[in-house]
Amino acid sequence: MRTHKCGEVTKKYLGETVALCGWVHRRRDHGGVIFIDLRDREGLVQVVFNPDSAETFAIAESVRSEYVLRVEGVVRDRLEGTVNPNMKTGEIEILVSHIEVLNESETPPFPVESEIEVNEEMRLRYRYIDLRRTEMQKNMRVRRDVTRNLRNFLDDEDFFEIETPILTKATPEGARDYIVPSRTHDNAFFALPQSPQLYKQLLMIAGMDKYYQIVRCFRDEDLRADRQPEFTQIDIETSFMNEDKIMDTMEEMIKKLFADVIDVDLGDKFPVMTYAEAMRLYGSDKPDLRIPLQFVDIADDMKDVDFKVFSGPANDPNGRVVALKIPGGSDLTRKEIDGLTKFVSIYGARGLAYIKVNDRGAGLEGLQSPIVKFAPAEVWESVLTKTDAQTGDLIFFGADKANIVNEAIGALRVKIGHDRGLAEGDWTPLWLIDFPMFDWDDKNQRWNAIHHPFTAPSCSIEELQANPGKALSRAYDLILNGCEVGGGSIRINKTDMQSKVFEILGIGEEEARDKFGFLLDALKYGCPPHGGVAFGLDRLVMLMTGSASIRDVIAFPKTQTAACPLMDSPAVVSDVQLHELGIKLHKPAAKKEQKQA
Ligand code: AMO
Ligand code: AMP
Repeated sequence: MRTHKCGEVTKKYLGETVALCGWVHRRRDHGGVIFIDLRDREGLVQVVFNPDSAETFAIAESVRSEYVLRVEGVVRDRLEGTVNPNMKTGEIEILVSHIEVLNESETPPFPVESEIEVNEEMRLRYRYIDLRRTEMQKNMRVRRDVTRNLRNFLDDEDFFEIETPILTKATPEGARDYIVPSRTHDNAFFALPQSPQLYKQLLMIAGMDKYYQIVRCFRDEDLRADRQPEFTQIDIETSFMNEDKIMDTMEEMIKKLFADVIDVDLGDKFPVMTYAEAMRLYGSDKPDLRIPLQFVDIADDMKDVDFKVFSGPANDPNGRVVALKIPGGSDLTRKEIDGLTKFVSIYGARGLAYIKVNDRGAGLEGLQSPIVKFAPAEVWESVLTKTDAQTGDLIFFGADKANIVNEAIGALRVKIGHDRGLAEGDWTPLWLIDFPMFDWDDKNQRWNAIHHPFTAPSCSIEELQANPGKALSRAYDLILNGCEVGGGSIRINKTDMQSKVFEILGIGEEEARDKFGFLLDALKYGCPPHGGVAFGLDRLVMLMTGSASIRDVIAFPKTQTAACPLMDSPAVVSDVQLHELGIKLHKPAAKKEQKQA
């Protein structure tokens, strides 16, 4: 039907007759001449109709936005003064001799390119129109470039691409499962994989040596800008490689990806930081290193002060008291500080104390703050010294349970850093290592695995048993600009260690057999030392395209409530289907049913 794509026609084709197909992006009538910007995946081209050929002109007059056309015509120079240097096709236009309307279009619910913000529900309902926008086309292209580049790298490194089942059994990655009823097995359900974790380990036991898969994972969890209920991992597993070798190979892969696809040099060697250090300096296991602000612990100074808000957490083994210095921050107004106090309250902080350093040389006189009165001068002197505060700076304080301080002041650090333009450098990759194996769930009085229960500890069984809270794991996360883009570990490859970890997690022997008997069996048949990693493809593409949300790099994403407005899913199923599956509904009719009724 066509000889070229619209967005590809350049001066190179001057004088040639071309045939193009595309959508009417814009039509302009200019004193007897009609201009149409015709659009396809490659971009726009200007096609021109003049009244000399009456029939063609009449058709051109009748077309509307988003009609699908086929045109034939000669490529010619644009008139002087009408050249558009910002467009690839901006030097030429096509004088049309033949036009065919391949299909009409109703007026779209929103213009394809619009300065006006279109609400996301609408964009998702008409996603096929939304995806026509240049930005979305660009995002899909980058996504294609990314998967192609990663596949090439992994193929060259001799990885096998192997598919694993979607209808499977629960794999714990910390979220709820999506489950699928089975018609042929009464009262039994499949689970959709939260990740192919156990299959890839079984593939190592099977001697596949190096595996990868670009694979869909399903997690029923609370959604955010960087989370979707179904998302894509670049899932990788290797045998006979230790963590250094795996991290080196992956670093090479990610560096090549950024260089090839978006021409970004991620630097020589990614820095490596321990979990403990990241929590100490940034209160986060995914610190955004573009922001130079760091926490300073001041619990030692606050143990004996009269101010309970500070002395309480300072004396509590689970408490934390930190200072965060904002260079030049004394220009923050009362209103701005109130706004930030509200911001930290989202994370559970009960207040946000501060000191403005108006004159560093003037002792207490030089400080402006609602809290200086609560502690003697030498305490503040010590705080100012530890934070290296100068005249004009402001210091914020967080005092509470450590996890609240970490979350609240951690989020404040990132917010202020970006709001005040303190960020340095565009790309800050970071490997985070030496995670604890477990964290204590106070509510349920049990240990949880920080990675997943198949991650190897860096200590012996005896040490693990003696002090689970102290044990570190052989896990590593890749953090980029404060976003966790990947994570992995060396796995447990011996039955006794795996059983011990289940035991610590409160998974009894019977439950372990029931849920993971296949793994415990497989570990007995010559399981090689192995380890791997999984990257979040959507998150990588989100960062590489500078998108604000992961939804902008997924063709058909779900909304914040895990629904698809386009297909209107999830949907009610028929009584016949339910009966066949042996399912009886207990919840009252959902809104959707009423809508359909
Ligand atoms: P993990 O759970 O850390 O590890 O997931 C790996 C990476 O997947 C991405 N990711 C997500 N992206 C979008 N939406 C989500 N809901 C979502 N959840 C996770 C993140 C994350 O770093 N089996 C292990 C990997 C391993 O140990 O090899 C796993 O799934 O970028
Ligand atoms: P109050 O005496 O409760 O009015 O608090 C005095 C100052 O301490 C105010 O600026 C509060 O915002 C701040 N503040 C209160 N609780 C905390 C906390 N947990 N961490 C940091 N600052 C706090």
